[in-house]
Amino acid sequence: MHINRNADIIPQVDGLAYGGDYNPEQWPREVWDEDLRLMREAGVNLVSVNIFAWAGINPAPGVWDFARLDDVMDHLAAGGVRADLATATASPPPWFSQAHPESLPVDAEGHRLHYGARAEYCPSAPAYQAAVVEMAGRLAERYADHPALAMWHVGNEYYRSCHCDASAAAFQTWLAERHGDLDGLNDAWGTTFWSQTYTDWSQVLPPRLCAETPSPGLVLDWRRFCSDALLNLFRSEAEAIERHSPDKPITTNLMVSGDFAAVDYHRWGPHVTGPRRLVATDHYLIPEGPIPWPAQVAFGADASRGLAGGSPWLLMEQSSNSSAWRRGYFAKKPGDQLRHSLSYVARGSEGAMFFQWRASRYGAERYHSAMLPHGGTDSKVWREIVEFGDRLKRIAEVKGSTVDSRAAILLDFESVWAAQTPGQPSADMDTYPELRRWHSALWHRGVTADLADPAWDLDGYEYVFAPHLYLLDTDANLRAYVENGGTLVVGPYSGIVDGNDHVHPGLPGALRDLIGVRVEEFVPVAKGATVALDDGTEGRTWTEVAHALDAEVQASFADYPGTPALFRRRLGRGEVWYLSTRPVDLDPLFDRLGLAPDFDGGAEGLELVRRSHEDGRSYVFAINHTDDTVPVPAKGTDLLTGEPWDSSRTLGPGESAVIKER
Ligand code: GLA
Repeated sequence: MHINRNADIIPQVDGLAYGGDYNPEQWPREVWDEDLRLMREAGVNLVSVNIFAWAGINPAPGVWDFARLDDVMDHLAAGGVRADLATATASPPPWFSQAHPESLPVDAEGHRLHYGARAEYCPSAPAYQAAVVEMAGRLAERYADHPALAMWHVGNEYYRSCHCDASAAAFQTWLAERHGDLDGLNDAWGTTFWSQTYTDWSQVLPPRLCAETPSPGLVLDWRRFCSDALLNLFRSEAEAIERHSPDKPITTNLMVSGDFAAVDYHRWGPHVTGPRRLVATDHYLIPEGPIPWPAQVAFGADASRGLAGGSPWLLMEQSSNSSAWRRGYFAKKPGDQLRHSLSYVARGSEGAMFFQWRASRYGAERYHSAMLPHGGTDSKVWREIVEFGDRLKRIAEVKGSTVDSRAAILLDFESVWAAQTPGQPSADMDTYPELRRWHSALWHRGVTADLADPAWDLDGYEYVFAPHLYLLDTDANLRAYVENGGTLVVGPYSGIVDGNDHVHPGLPGALRDLIGVRVEEFVPVAKGATVALDDGTEGRTWTEVAHALDAEVQASFADYPGTPALFRRRLGRGEVWYLSTRPVDLDPLFDRLGLAPDFDGGAEGLELVRRSHEDGRSYVFAINHTDDTVPVPAKGTDLLTGEPWDSSRTLGPGESAVIKER
């Protein structure tokens, strides 16, 4: 992979960034002094301010009042804490929604939502579009040279979509650009099916509730459109900022870990990477489920690093403890937060930020955990917050270093969306859970893998895994990767449809020639059931009646003797593997591939990741997620303790080290 090294992506912050969302507008002025005192105690050097403060700055049409924000910014500057200054556009206040009722979002059933919460806007509403540009411009003009300003934070977690008439008109314009004319649209969506041919653009609607299964082509284009509509909002604010503040980085808190794949982050990539742009992500763990927390943390981090092209990125939000909105309250065990935060940094984050600094006394998130919890400073959470701030200072020299992964897992948002379109042969062939499962299996094996787009330059990776790449126009990039010496592993039900969600002729379509396999028939497997393979392994969820055209059969289904399940094809200097089922256990497959861990001698559950500077300085992050004492195969100095480290040293249960290598 080609790493873009940005010299200093978070200027004015000494060392690594540490802090969280700071909402002083919720607190009386005297609390602000305590905030600064405690921020200093914890080593906080960056806070995100003004994210939900529209109502204070612009309390009525044409009325602007920056007094409180001036005060907040001055207070931070005086206290030596920098601001990630937000544009406050994510939550229009009631007066705005009342004055512009057409700016409230409409759901797929045609209900216009009422105001009363947040993110209540239609991305295509002209009044909202104009308001956010004005807001961003005014803020940038006022604070461009403020000493507290470190960077700009546009909006908040872009995900909103709207099915109103203004959105329909914008969708029609977007479609005309994509497909040229109505003939192009009718071809792309296959509207001869069920007699849905459009004869006028005004007939084209968003996917509103209709009597039966909607057109998958329409649904897919709608998701592309929604992502672009949000990107346009982000860009319009960023451009308004740049007119007044051209030299400060601009970011927004993405949700790259995939729980809300509302936008195509890879399409957003060019607008959130490069000079004066920063990939920042929010990541909240799923309390229950098959993937253990440390592997979830790694997934969020590796997806963010992938999006950043290997450059440093920033964890903008995580929770110190419970995320109240995640199916009820849960608590992190002692040490979890320390390990999670260190893992994000190990995987390329330039610090660790939280939602939020101080727990709110009121509002929908009053039970969401914070750096400073309701329980006060005599608490596990606060002690760990202070301890992690201290750790970040000790390892500050890792800032600007990068992680070079040997492996990649392919993630394509259009493919994720296409696999979710209605009318699929199986309800269980979702993409994200499968990507997480593969990533988790690699994590357990000690292999760090980027989440990468199938169209990117993959040449630097030894292994590329495509667990589920349902939509693929052409195999060209993957073929080049294999021919140049890469090892590509493709999961079932991949390469099936083109960019319009039309089934490629000759299954599995776009990949048939590359993998040298012909698929005759899909045979989905019932949820919970498994199928036996003749090598002693099992598959689940999906099988295919498949035949080798130009591939060696490595294993077959036991119940259909002679029906192959695993294929290998050598091509050029590399090889491609194809699975016609989802393996229950991925380790036997990794064994066949000879996939070694990144580090020799690491125990399972000991996370080992290396960050390196261009000048050769390198650091091994060692995080022991197990209950055992484990050896750490590294030599150098542990920056956390200042003590020398050699391969005889061990880490106790839950302990960590950051070893500057000799
Ligand atoms: C998101 C939002 C925050 C807050 C947190 C709570 O990340 O950006 O404003 O709601 O979730 O987990």
